[in-house]
Amino acid sequence: MQSGTERPRHTAIVMDGNGRWAVSRGLPRIAGHREGASAVRRTVEAARALGLPILTLYAFSSDNWSRPRPEVGALFTLLREYLDGEATRLRDEGIRLEVIGRRDRLPDEVVAAITRAEGTTAAGSSMRLRIAVDYSARETIARAARRLPRGSESPREDLSRLIGGPDVDLLIRTGGEQRLSDFLLWEAAYAELVFLPCPWPEFSRSHLEAAIEEFSRRQRRFGRIDDAAEAV
Ligand code: IPE
Ligand code: IPE
Ligand code: MG
Repeated sequence: MQSGTERPRHTAIVMDGNGRWAVSRGLPRIAGHREGASAVRRTVEAARALGLPILTLYAFSSDNWSRPRPEVGALFTLLREYLDGEATRLRDEGIRLEVIGRRDRLPDEVVAAITRAEGTTAAGSSMRLRIAVDYSARETIARAARRLPRGSESPREDLSRLIGGPDVDLLIRTGGEQRLSDFLLWEAAYAELVFLPCPWPEFSRSHLEAAIEEFSRRQRRFGRIDDAAEAV
């Protein structure tokens, strides 16, 4: 792949900074998560309008279980409201929703909402929206490794297939931190990273457009050298 007008096939976003956004306004952290849910609606709409084929959003990491119970509860309530409130709209827009991550530790009503929303949107073919919930990249890789055929001749390909996610082209993290926090570690091997100071509740279409613009300016080499350098 070359730089230029290239657009990401798979964009992944670490939606971070909700809590700090709220606290800096004298609001409870949960108010930041509520605004964050609005930012998810805006961002999905923008991604669809911009023609992005695959969008993965990091909503809840497996390490987020260690947050206070009321915060965890509020996050799951917001997730359930999002799924129940948006599924029909997503379907009408041709967006297929998938939730990645563990389901066995989620509250029953959240699992039910996920199943409903995935069912409602199953025929969508214009965009894939993946939401990572109780997700840990290390755990995903470890589980795939356990299923690797003994004596596999192409372990790298086999592991990729077992992990199953598409390679990430553009990875955005809002909220100012510059780390991956156990998100898509395998799939992001050659992702272009864009870190934004903007807290997630303020993320808008213009930020997404700017990140895509930045992506299109990057030279992706995948370990090779530039075509121009080769000619010298
Ligand atoms: C992202 O915002 C949402 C989740 C991780 C669930 P945070 O809640 O991490 O917000 P900060 O980073 O504390 O500001
Ligand atoms: C990463 O954000 C997880 C999500 C955005 C869902 P965190 O706020 O949990 O990450 P750390 O703790 O700053 O690394
Ligand atoms: Mg955070």
